[in-house]
Amino acid sequence: MALTSPWTHRHLLGLEQLTAAEIVSLLDHADSFLPSCKDPGAKRTDLAGKSVVNLFFENSTRTRVSFGLAARRLGAEVIDFAVGGSSVSKGETFVDTARNIEALGIHMVVVRHSCPGTPHLLAQHLRAGVVNAGDGAHEHPTQGLLDLLTIRQRLGRIEGLTVALVGDIRHSRVARSNIHGLLKLGARVIVCGPPTLVPPEICAMGVEVAHDLDRILPECHVLNVLRIQFERQKGPNFPGVREYFHLYGVTKERLARARQGVLVLAPGPINRGVELTPEVADGPSSAVLDQVTNGLAVRMAVLDACVKAVG
Ligand code: CP
Repeated sequence: MALTSPWTHRHLLGLEQLTAAEIVSLLDHADSFLPSCKDPGAKRTDLAGKSVVNLFFENSTRTRVSFGLAARRLGAEVIDFAVGGSSVSKGETFVDTARNIEALGIHMVVVRHSCPGTPHLLAQHLRAGVVNAGDGAHEHPTQGLLDLLTIRQRLGRIEGLTVALVGDIRHSRVARSNIHGLLKLGARVIVCGPPTLVPPEICAMGVEVAHDLDRILPECHVLNVLRIQFERQKGPNFPGVREYFHLYGVTKERLARARQGVLVLAPGPINRGVELTPEVADGPSSAVLDQVTNGLAVRMAVLDACVKAVG
């Protein structure tokens, strides 16, 4: 189960800082954990004697549960930090909270926060390894990795593919991690959404911008359908959900006009009937639940690699 490329990072803060070889190495490492993901009885001891804390300051279903399960499957002790019942409400700072938890003998901190850069701040103050589980609209590196793994698994490669990220690009950390990972591995990336949800500066990352989904559909091997992040929007960015669905909703009729064998991904949670219809989400082109299973393998790989780098 060794990584194919030497891994020296204690932290996984984003895909921006990684080389293509490091990303491929993590994907290969995740592949090697897939059999244990599909066998709930499989108990491993890779991280026996290590402890991992889930420090989630924002809601989560998939990421939180799969990081906890990944650590347990590897034999680590897991602490789920509940912000609600903590001394954060008494004014303790974020860094003090993390340092106090670290003082209990924690080896890895998995952190999600609405503020971009929070994992980077923690990495400066802790000896423990830090994994970014989503920082504001900045990055969500394990989601990027699990999307890459799912594409590679379903289509056999990433290099040379055209991948469209559809929807709310402006508020999406998933979009940014996907862009970094896909471009490093040689894919062509198109970001597609209403002009209000596609920041013009995104071009500087090396992506193409489109506003007409129907025009680009025949070119795309993969559609990664992003959630409209209503909770991050300060005001309306389009007239209404019906108009959005009319122009950008992924429907069975739209898929019929797409490239044959097009793969549909969605990081979840899904707004059924807004970004995509239930028949697409649950249909043969969709890999939505495979993404979740692959997320467990990716998080096992990331925890294993970073803990071993911590020593
Ligand atoms: N995709 C994702 O990050 O989902 P959660 O917010 O449920 O963790």
